[in-house]
Amino acid sequence: MPEAENLSTRRAVRDDKAEVLEICERVYGERDYLPDVWDNWVSNEPSSGEFRIGMTDGRIVGFYHLAYRGNQSWMESLRVDIGQRRRGVGRRLTHDALDRVTERGSRVIRLVTSQKNLGSRGLFRGQAFEEVLFPHYMKFEGAMHAGSDNGQVRNAERDEILKFLHNSGSLAPPHFLSPLWWRWWEFDETMLDELLVNGSAIGLGDNRNLEALLLLNMTSRFGYKNSVQITFLGGTIQMMLTLIKHIPRFLDQTSSNEGITGYFSIPTTGSEAETALNQASFHYGTELVVVQKLLT
Ligand SMILES: CC(C)(COP(=O)(O)OP(=O)(O)OC[C@H]1O[C@@H](n2cnc3c(N)ncnc32)[C@H](O)[C@@H]1OP(=O)(O)O)[C@@H](O)C(=O)NCCC(=O)NCCS
Repeated sequence: MPEAENLSTRRAVRDDKAEVLEICERVYGERDYLPDVWDNWVSNEPSSGEFRIGMTDGRIVGFYHLAYRGNQSWMESLRVDIGQRRRGVGRRLTHDALDRVTERGSRVIRLVTSQKNLGSRGLFRGQAFEEVLFPHYMKFEGAMHAGSDNGQVRNAERDEILKFLHNSGSLAPPHFLSPLWWRWWEFDETMLDELLVNGSAIGLGDNRNLEALLLLNMTSRFGYKNSVQITFLGGTIQMMLTLIKHIPRFLDQTSSNEGITGYFSIPTTGSEAETALNQASFHYGTELVVVQKLLT
């Protein structure tokens, strides 16, 4: 099969919508989240990301999206149309992404895929990406019922969170990777601030010291339906379970939390957070792998 030699790439425009969504429909049927985020992504500020299109003979054959955070880049929604596969389109689009992010000075590019997606894993392995993290998607269906106030679970303030994270060594480089929606970034102080501005932090402990911490983020700001993303930043399994029980109490506090469609978390496989979520009746979903390539 010829390598996709006549493939050209360009930035997506609003008029591409119908053709892009037809490809999504062919690839994933109604399960695709891309139609929900298209409007948001196609109007990206150049500093926050870009949607790229691959064309052959005047037809869209594949595409992907890049998101930027400082000098880190995230690649997502790579799709090659059915009938165009195994001709090198995916590889060409990956090269296009590497060119784009290198040009803008990124020092790393990452993406997530299902562990079962052997085609995708093979594609990125072939481009010298490394598999660096194995997270597990977990979700809770139905309504959560709030535990009664025990005086130990409360909103955590930025200063005490920083103290807690410094004491546990969590802010020291190399920074661990933490998901913000479906993108994994290095967890540093700027990421904490972003999580705090757009979400809330619940701590467990007396009024002087935190012993466990979880962060809540609403996914609607990514142009997606309003789910609650839960991220644990320390504590024992028992403490995490206590924090989970109190989540609804803290969500009631702001009107932006109306119309919540569900709760999810993407802990690392084998972590204490995964065990706590399992014990709190979260269901296991897709087993994932985060891959990255350093660009030096
Ligand atoms: C994964 C995907 C993007 C690959 O696109 P593609 O254009 O068929 O890939 P290429 O032809 O460029 O293949 C490049 C390499 O990837 C690997 N690969 C691609 N598809 C594969 C498959 N089905 N099985 C095994 N390896 C595969 C091979 O190593 C291949 O090299 P080779 O053909 O020389 O052996 C495409 O199958 C797709 O759109 N899948 C659905 C969406 C998806 O899974 N996206 C990736 C997750 S972000």
